[in-house]
Amino acid sequence: MYFLKLMITEESILQSLRSVQDPDLHKDIVSLGFVQNLAITSQGAVDFDLVLTTPACPVKDILRDSAVAAVKSVAGVTAVDVRLSAKVTSRPGMDKGQLLQGVKNVIAVASGKGGVGKSTVTANLACALVRQGARVGILDADIYGPSQGMMLGVTEEPEMDSEKRVYPPVARRIKVISMSMFTDDEAPVVWRGPMVSQMVQNFVRQVEWGELDYLLIDMPPGTGDIQLTLTQQAPITGAVIVTTPQDVALMDVKRGIKMFEKVSVPVLGVIENMSGFICDGCGKRHDIFRKDGGLRIARSMGLPFLGTVPLEPAVALCGDQGDPIVFRDPTSDSGKAFLEIAGRVAQELSVLHSQGNDLLTEFNYTWSELPEMVLETKS
Ligand SMILES: Nc1ncnc2c1ncn2[C@@H]1O[C@H](COP(=O)(O)OP(=O)(O)O)[C@@H](O)[C@H]1O
Ligand SMILES: [Mg+2]
Repeated sequence: MYFLKLMITEESILQSLRSVQDPDLHKDIVSLGFVQNLAITSQGAVDFDLVLTTPACPVKDILRDSAVAAVKSVAGVTAVDVRLSAKVTSRPGMDKGQLLQGVKNVIAVASGKGGVGKSTVTANLACALVRQGARVGILDADIYGPSQGMMLGVTEEPEMDSEKRVYPPVARRIKVISMSMFTDDEAPVVWRGPMVSQMVQNFVRQVEWGELDYLLIDMPPGTGDIQLTLTQQAPITGAVIVTTPQDVALMDVKRGIKMFEKVSVPVLGVIENMSGFICDGCGKRHDIFRKDGGLRIARSMGLPFLGTVPLEPAVALCGDQGDPIVFRDPTSDSGKAFLEIAGRVAQELSVLHSQGNDLLTEFNYTWSELPEMVLETKS
């Protein structure tokens, strides 16, 4: 018997994969460099790596399935094996001696005012990213109202070496630094502006963050001088704005967005928190405030809307107990919301890098000449 053996070439496989587009980056997966280590056996089995720009990619399964389908359509292919992985893209200039070397993306989580759930969102987004396999840290820059220690249930103290380098404690694989680790619970933090920004500078300069894909900064609420200084002084890749649906909050939000625009930090989008109340009794959603405020503001400012998180009693409870809802109950309405939003944030960063229009490259970070104030850990 005579078999006509079909020759499968690398080019024919790549050609088929060029039909698969990344919906956000608007290019095909071959041009994007996602397809790596392509191997074809004489039996017609094809395998390759699909290396995405973030492990939190919301469409990773769709991309993988489409890639498999595309390759299967090539005549002679008998089997397809795709290994899905990610290499997080980084801000430009990261390796050029800038601050926070080794940190690929610095995300500021900001809000116009306090109490909108900024810290809750920061903690849960960090958990969501870590769950997907990213390396994550949280810098709690809310010096007057630090909450990340509590929200993530950090019990360890930061270690310090002889050169005053600070090693952040790790909780749920997230590296965390917060003011609460440097003050006693009783002592109210009564510092003036310059001291606060110096403290935050120390968090950036003295802390050994190591290699991170995402460092989230829980920003102090509002848009005062401290916030503005901070925004200029930490090498922020992009900011996400947290709001509640009320109109008053929305005015603050606009101010917050303008602040980032002023210092050329790209705003990645708006998150609406406490959007409708999910009753723990009946499980129904009740819209207490006006609906869709976050969506409207995002539209009016030409920004992406990253999603809504419902007001759910379990979210607050989990936060108080140091066990964020994304870990405690990832299938709850808010758990799912946080996971989806984290994917969108990661994707917006990938889009930003792919456009190569990070304004950071234009930035020159100079630290203000404040008297040196060195971090001391609690004795
Ligand atoms: N989606 C939510 N559902 C229920 N409670 C929430 C939600 N988001 C935040 N909270 C609660 O609201 C309060 C304020 O949130 P917090 O994250 O501390 O706000 P901020 O950091 O903006 O001041 C906290 O008690 C928190 O547990
Ligand atoms: Mg807070």
